[in-house]
Amino acid sequence: EKGGWSSFMAKEVAEQPDAVANTIRGRIVDGVVSIPELDQLGDDALRSIRRITVVACGTAAYAGMVSKYAIEQWARIPVEVELSHEFRYREPVIDDGTLVVSISQSGETMDTLMAVKYAREQGAKAISVCNTQGATIPRESDAAVYTHAGPEVAVASTKAFVAQITALYLFGLHLARVRGTLSEDELAAQVAELQAIPEKITTVLEQGERVGELAHWMSDTRSVLFLGRHVGYPIALEGALKLKELAYIHAEGFAAGELKHGPIALIEPGQPVFVVVPSPRGSAALHPKVVSNIQEIRARGARVIAIAEAGDAAVLPFADEVIRIPLAGPLFEPLLAVVPLQIFAMELSQAKGLDVDQPRNLAKSVTVE
Ligand code: M6R
Repeated sequence: EKGGWSSFMAKEVAEQPDAVANTIRGRIVDGVVSIPELDQLGDDALRSIRRITVVACGTAAYAGMVSKYAIEQWARIPVEVELSHEFRYREPVIDDGTLVVSISQSGETMDTLMAVKYAREQGAKAISVCNTQGATIPRESDAAVYTHAGPEVAVASTKAFVAQITALYLFGLHLARVRGTLSEDELAAQVAELQAIPEKITTVLEQGERVGELAHWMSDTRSVLFLGRHVGYPIALEGALKLKELAYIHAEGFAAGELKHGPIALIEPGQPVFVVVPSPRGSAALHPKVVSNIQEIRARGARVIAIAEAGDAAVLPFADEVIRIPLAGPLFEPLLAVVPLQIFAMELSQAKGLDVDQPRNLAKSVTVE
């Protein structure tokens, strides 16, 4: 039930610190990541994989895109992320060196289920990252790594998304340990980052009111753009998806490096643009690039709303609004930066008097093609 919340979505957004903590629980013991559900595959199987193909749809696919950066960096395995419906109709190259990882909150998305079945027929092993115990996709997989976000009722996925990233990060760290690609110290540092996330999400949630005010001021906006780089890129895509589905506003996410290849032509005076800014400490190479992107769009009249690390002063002269997120390792910023984008879309939907939990034309789980 909704408890005292105005919507299931508001409740589920607020539950995100617990969703992450519950997904971690039992999988980090004495600082060491171990996912018992993977035992049935065996460490030898995990050592012999040559590549990973992630299949998912919608928000789950964006969780997959975020995890690509982490798994490749930590476990040094190539990861490709594919929309399930694109994957299954193009005769993808799959063999017994491929591990297919499906991501699905419901575990019932038809295209993702069919992608898993196809991959297994080709000899691949399949792992399901799923939030619903006993759903079809985990049953049709070789192993299931459940997210423990609790039931997600609102059509827009929120707590399942952060739980999916958490489960995939645990998987990446488990792989790195088994494959010996990170030192013990490096592993311990990443584990500590992950364990600190629930509290940091709580800090971000405390700014919800301000983000809500912003959404109310912007309730007659017709189009919003989202920019990000590296792990901030899928977060830009997710911010845009949330706004489309909840507030019926035209929204697009771009990789910030693409601006000059086309999207900057969209910038005209007053155009709102959310920018996910990488950490100046953790992403020293990327931070100045994103700041210069902000300058470029600002010079053309964009109204910039920056999501930036606490203490990052470089964005101040150019951003119209700054939403702060706590310091975190560069790979962990998505778990924080997505939260204001969820709240923005939810509040804008409410400001327009729309049904936040049941947007038009959408179903919670897409069990048809
Ligand atoms: O149940 P699944 O995770 O497989 O669902 C995938 C998408 O349908 C889902 O994430 C959808 O994009 C959400 N409505 C996004 O908020």
